[in-house]
Amino acid sequence: MTKNKNNQVIWNTRINKNGSSLFQRVGNSIDIDKRLYKEDIKASTAHVEMLFKQKIISFKIKNKIIYGLTKINNEIKKNKFEFKKKYEDIHMNIEKRLFEVIGDEAGYVHTARSRNDQVITDFKIWIKSATNEINNNIDKIIKSTIKLAEKNIKTVMPGFTHLKNAQPISFAHYLMSFVEMFNRDKKRFLNNLDSLNENPLGVAALAGTSFKIDRYYTTKKLGFIRPTNNSIDTVSDRDFVLDFLYASSVCSMHISRIAEELIIWNSDSFNLIKLTDKVVTGSSIMPQKKNPDLLEYLRGKSGNAYGNLFSMLTILKGLPLSYHKDLQDDKELVFKSNDNLNNCLKIFNEILKNCKPNKSVMLKLANKGYTTATDLAEYLSINYSMSFRKAYQKTAMVVNYAEKRKKKLNELTLEELKKIEPKLKEDVLKVFDLNNSIISKKSYGGTSFDNIKKMILKYKKND
Ligand code: ARG
Repeated sequence: MTKNKNNQVIWNTRINKNGSSLFQRVGNSIDIDKRLYKEDIKASTAHVEMLFKQKIISFKIKNKIIYGLTKINNEIKKNKFEFKKKYEDIHMNIEKRLFEVIGDEAGYVHTARSRNDQVITDFKIWIKSATNEINNNIDKIIKSTIKLAEKNIKTVMPGFTHLKNAQPISFAHYLMSFVEMFNRDKKRFLNNLDSLNENPLGVAALAGTSFKIDRYYTTKKLGFIRPTNNSIDTVSDRDFVLDFLYASSVCSMHISRIAEELIIWNSDSFNLIKLTDKVVTGSSIMPQKKNPDLLEYLRGKSGNAYGNLFSMLTILKGLPLSYHKDLQDDKELVFKSNDNLNNCLKIFNEILKNCKPNKSVMLKLANKGYTTATDLAEYLSINYSMSFRKAYQKTAMVVNYAEKRKKKLNELTLEELKKIEPKLKEDVLKVFDLNNSIISKKSYGGTSFDNIKKMILKYKKND
């Protein structure tokens, strides 16, 4: 490594002319990847400790480098570090500053590594902790959801299919479906840890190195589980980026679906939920308005997450192995998806805390649309040993009869029902009771009040 005269970029010793200023402007990534500074310093520190242990650098040089890196870490933390676009990225900015702080011996820090393995090492460490933060935010949502569910076990509403009233359910059961979605999201992020836990450091540019390094040592030091197996694949691989962007997209999609449903329920036509003033906004012209803008924000932001995922997939499509500049955009996409998702998770948690069911409207709506028809069909099948299809047909006749007479199912008399199925007894009338309908859905995972209580308890215990 030669001395850096005339402010030349470190790797530019064979390039005589200064690069195009336009490229310097567009090709740098410092404004984005400076977020990796802590990880970069941590990885460089582990790297030089390994180099010393392997007798590749002396004790004195190792200490000097670590001293310089620690100083730089503090400078950046205290906003006293000047990031320069001409040094392209965080790695070169730190290395360049290391020369200023400790002098020529800084030239040893880049022994047996390349920016190609350096950047992925930093990035994987960063994504691992981002995964943690996202899962913590998801946990908060799960807690708020369970809290709201606990208060609404007996809140009856219609469940929908095709957005048409289908069957009576407990509002809590609906809420507990969020918990399943968000638990899957958590698992999806956690599953990604397997490949994130493979340490890239030491594969160097693409071929490995002739220095006698110990990749197991840096693996342990940096909290990875094992070193990656193939140096070419290591510097080419961005599957872990796709995994993160995909997990973020699915989680955003879940939020978007729920947001859309709550928007519908908050509409004046449905009026199933109330949002407090904390999470609605007014209109500039219509003084009466309270709009669910935050929910709309959440619904829309999934588009952003998908965009980032598809950008990365497109960058990788047809890209030859191993490292290419194209890959540099990976960080911007991940940072954007990460920030976006954390915002959405926080907003959604706020909405959950500021959302109340309109219980009487829910109940009234559950009484519309013959929602207990399936209960009658099941009752006939169970008690009169009819095939389900036969029971279904009889029930359809009952619904037709009720519809013609503009009656609800629970307004039909036993005599009227007997016209369709003479064997029926008084006992049949209870199937049209909404609570009874819910209580009867005892099959595992069904909406019965008892099931919900058990499920809530189970999730509270897992806490
Ligand atoms: N800033 C670069 C990136 O994020 C670092 C890797 C540079 N490697 C190289 N061979 N130019 O992709």
